[in-house]
Amino acid sequence: MGKIKVGLIGIGNCASAIVQGVLLSRRDPSRTKEVLYENIGGYKIGDIEFVLAIDVDVRKIGKDLGDAIFEGPNIFPRLIDETKTGVKVIAGPVLDGVAEHMREIFMPHGKEVSMDDIVRAIKDSGAEIIVNMLPVGSEQATRFYAEAALRAGAAFINGMPVFIASDPKGEWQEKYRKAGLPLLGDDIKGQFGATILHSSLTALMRERGITVNETYQLNIGGNTDFLNMKEEERLMSKRESKTSAVAHTLKNPAELIQTRRIRIGPSDWVPFLGNTKVAYIYVKATSFLGFPVELDVKLKVDDKSMYAAAMVDLIRLAKLALENGLAGPIQEASGYYMKHPPKPVASPFEAKRMLDEFINRYGKRASS
Ligand SMILES: NC(=O)c1ccc[n+]([C@@H]2O[C@H](COP(=O)([O-])OP(=O)(O)OC[C@H]3O[C@@H](n4cnc5c(N)ncnc54)[C@H](O)[C@@H]3O)[C@@H](O)[C@H]2O)c1
Repeated sequence: MGKIKVGLIGIGNCASAIVQGVLLSRRDPSRTKEVLYENIGGYKIGDIEFVLAIDVDVRKIGKDLGDAIFEGPNIFPRLIDETKTGVKVIAGPVLDGVAEHMREIFMPHGKEVSMDDIVRAIKDSGAEIIVNMLPVGSEQATRFYAEAALRAGAAFINGMPVFIASDPKGEWQEKYRKAGLPLLGDDIKGQFGATILHSSLTALMRERGITVNETYQLNIGGNTDFLNMKEEERLMSKRESKTSAVAHTLKNPAELIQTRRIRIGPSDWVPFLGNTKVAYIYVKATSFLGFPVELDVKLKVDDKSMYAAAMVDLIRLAKLALENGLAGPIQEASGYYMKHPPKPVASPFEAKRMLDEFINRYGKRASS
């Protein structure tokens, strides 16, 4: 089997976890045992190869990807000594990627970068899959890169909450379908993050006949992702993405939304937490004969390792889609790994079954 050639957009903490995860899985597989799938259609995590990296931060541009991942403001720890990739980070257009309150933090360059520049860079690199990891609220910039990938003939995985694969107007889905390219998105659901835990609990409640009366999920963290989301305007899509992932598992989503009895989203930036994300999940529900059921869960995880575990699977799923000539939104992959997939998911358990069927159908070798 060949390598999977990938281009990364936004060399932040998620990128660091992905790059180090891939390198570690080649050099010390004992440290990458906690995966969802070791083998997806014959592809291992170590088959992922980085051929392109784009950012706007002057500290990262021009550096080898394996060095840039340790530049400020990234804080994901070094897990492996040798990280050189031979790929230099190039400058992308800043557009709305850097919020006003983040200008001193992300340190954007002042150069003009055109669509032609990025399309050419993708083509020259040979990237077959482009992975988008821009800060929340990068509406324009995400559309720019989705267009560039399309023009360059690459598949697109949108790991953040701008609605491309789940575009409500269906325009992006149609463009990718017409171009014969796979589109996966939107907004990653981490390996064991707050969304998968919360939505699994509420899906289980529905399956067991329980009615949810009110629920919240409060999230705090201390990295640039959380700092960026201090601006409520920028995080509207994130709130929608996270809320819909839980709401679709409920018996009565419209009622809870209308009566404002569901509240989910990033809640504050607590600098000393770093990449540790703390989520407080609360559910009040009713069981048989009207008796109360109440849940209070506190989850504490490294948010970036959660993201990387899902992304290394999505990259391999995008490769299967490419190999099998699948075009447009790939629901089976997005439904299981994304918070805001093209079609909403009512049960994460059912989504897993659909994903396994997809892998069995399109994978060349049986998956483990
Ligand atoms: N568990 C998770 O961590 C998780 C889950 C779901 C979604 N996400 C999303 O993934 C995205 C990435 O998260 P992160 O923690 O790596 O963020 P980060 O803040 O560490 O990194 C963002 C990077 O994007 C770069 N950037 C800004 N504008 C750019 C542009 N126009 N072109 C190219 N690069 C640009 C910044 O310089 C920075 O390096 C965020 O939107 C986050 O919400 C994360």
